[in-house]
Amino acid sequence: MRILVAGGAGYIGSHICVELLEAGYEVVVIDDFSNSRPEVLGYIKEITGKDVKFYEFNILDEEKTEGVFKENKLDAVIHCAAFKAVGESVSKPIEYYTNNLMTTLIMTKMMTKYHVNNIVFSSSATVYGDPKVVPLTENCPLGETTNPYGTSKAMMERILTDVQFANPEMSVTLLRYFNPIGAHASGLIGENPKGIPNNLMPYIMKVATGELPCLGVFGDDYDTPDGTGVRDYIHVVDLAKGHVLAIEKYQEPGVHICNLGTGTGYSVLDIVHAFEKVNGIEVKYEIKPRRPGDIATCYADPTRAKEELGWVAEKTLEDMCRDTWNFAKKHQ
Ligand code: UD1
Repeated sequence: MRILVAGGAGYIGSHICVELLEAGYEVVVIDDFSNSRPEVLGYIKEITGKDVKFYEFNILDEEKTEGVFKENKLDAVIHCAAFKAVGESVSKPIEYYTNNLMTTLIMTKMMTKYHVNNIVFSSSATVYGDPKVVPLTENCPLGETTNPYGTSKAMMERILTDVQFANPEMSVTLLRYFNPIGAHASGLIGENPKGIPNNLMPYIMKVATGELPCLGVFGDDYDTPDGTGVRDYIHVVDLAKGHVLAIEKYQEPGVHICNLGTGTGYSVLDIVHAFEKVNGIEVKYEIKPRRPGDIATCYADPTRAKEELGWVAEKTLEDMCRDTWNFAKKHQ
């Protein structure tokens, strides 16, 4: 089987490529390196001993995207090409909506034209908004998103659902990720954002390396055990494995929705302390005001993933912290 991974050089996409190659799939990648680096392709080869077939362009280029569908007999698409910085999306809504929505429209247009009937989409727990109850099941209502990035994810889910309705032979899978962190055990691929990180673990990593002086903890007055925000952190390799299973198990036509999380919530300070303990390194932090748009607590009910995909997150918080640091040391 040949799978197109859109955004396959990115943090999550590169881990998906590794798992697909190791499971014996052929992999075609489109990436414009807008938030990734060309070296990643070499690292994928180093880990798996196999090449992906690579195309460098933005999927907004419809002609080039069509060329990939013409040149390759594709069996499925994993779509994780999107802009994802929450803060930036507030100041650049036009760019975010154009990129995230148009790429999804072009991708599904080509899928219908070339009869590729299976797509797995990188969605996010952000579509649930501020949860009324936790843990979140897939039946929880969708909530108000608080930024254009989150709204674009909800809109992309809607577009894919409508496309499936009009093309009943399609299988559309919406994987709602919780908080992916960590890196491949080789230390070769991981998350290395350009500039100042928005997300917690990359920020901790850059404080640990000395690149940034101090972590700001956004609020310690939430209604949580230690007052800091609680999230469901999931190892990126577990997340990537969930995609391989989704391709295999969700072949029935229809819209399949599945959370990918561990079911356990950790606070910001839990993560800081776990990172310090596992890696024997101090992470300086100070308490700052709450970040606008943040919620107190968010974690998954992963029952459906277990029942329908046979998937459970296997890696621990210690694995996530150790692998992040192992990656950081190799990429300073
Ligand atoms: C955010 C987005 C989510 C997106 C995800 C991955 C919101 C509400 N959610 O998730 O839509 O899918 O990123 O890009 O924006 N924190 C600090 N200091 C920091 C950074 C984070 O204390 O420097 C705290 C946050 O307040 C939060 C936790 O760490 O409690 C996790 O933050 P982050 O890694 O940014 O993820 P989310 O906000 O959960």
